[in-house]
Amino acid sequence: MEIIQEYDFLVEIVKKTKKEISRELGLEVGSVCGKYFLKLDHLHYGYWTRDIEVDIANLHLAQDEYARFVISHIPEGVKTILDVGCGTGQIAKKLLDMGYHVDCVSPSPFLTKRAGELLGNESRIFECLYEDLQTDKRYDVVLFCESFEYIDVDQALSNTSKFLNSNGYLLICDVFRKDVEGKMVMGGGHKLTKFYDLIAKFPFTLIENVDITEQTAPNIDLFNDVLENVVEPVVNAGIRLFESRHPIALRLLKWKYRKKISKLHKKYLRGGRTGEEFKKYKSYQLFLFKKEVQQ
Ligand SMILES: C[S@@+](CC[C@H](N)C(=O)[O-])C[C@H]1O[C@@H](n2cnc3c(N)ncnc32)[C@H](O)[C@@H]1O
Repeated sequence: MEIIQEYDFLVEIVKKTKKEISRELGLEVGSVCGKYFLKLDHLHYGYWTRDIEVDIANLHLAQDEYARFVISHIPEGVKTILDVGCGTGQIAKKLLDMGYHVDCVSPSPFLTKRAGELLGNESRIFECLYEDLQTDKRYDVVLFCESFEYIDVDQALSNTSKFLNSNGYLLICDVFRKDVEGKMVMGGGHKLTKFYDLIAKFPFTLIENVDITEQTAPNIDLFNDVLENVVEPVVNAGIRLFESRHPIALRLLKWKYRKKISKLHKKYLRGGRTGEEFKKYKSYQLFLFKKEVQQ
């Protein structure tokens, strides 16, 4: 019995690590391609205001707008910030330039290096998962800018109440899943109801909540457009080239990986990844909570 339990435990660790590795690689590829082709510095969604035309060429403007939106919700009097999942370090850099003291958490060696080059010695970057962070430092704000969805809610909240000064703030801007029938092909986001249930058990009071689903949904249409008009034709051309040279090998590969191919096709190329679907199943929210002083 014990052996079976240990085996299950090990399988869980291997599974989790695989998921984390592919997620980090995805972010790495996204950051390299985004920077090279579209001059993107951030890794988060764009915040599309009325005056920014929804066009992939304007994504960098919408991303800057997103950063401005989040930063504008940092309460007065704050001096120290912990940016959890700092990505390329762009938001931390803006905050440093505004006079805040900022430290970061970044589990990805690639992104840590990029953020480190930008932030220099002004900021300490803890290269680890937030779940594993060990420090005696305490902060006025713990910020999750599209990184909350990657972290177990319970662990994120208990660590945050530990790393915040009394009267400190928890600021989250991220995608959540609505409690509705059905499921979107696109994954991501904690269930809102589960989040509300869990946060009620921690010493946090809600100060502000802004729903920005409408302003972030256009990102999904843009992403879908890139999949349909760039990724799919390029992949198909590559397959045709391979087929012209190795027709039997291709048939064998297609048969061997038929389940994986069908899964990828269903996930990325069979539609269902639209702004409208996003609004139906997801909810993009900014939450600002204040830590209650323990008597
Ligand atoms: C979508 S990116 C957002 C990056 C950045 N905050 C921004 O707004 O551009 C998600 C970030 O979360 C980080 N991340 C993923 N899992 C994490 C974890 N368990 N603990 C801390 N950070 C994590 C990734 O390395 C990445 O930097």
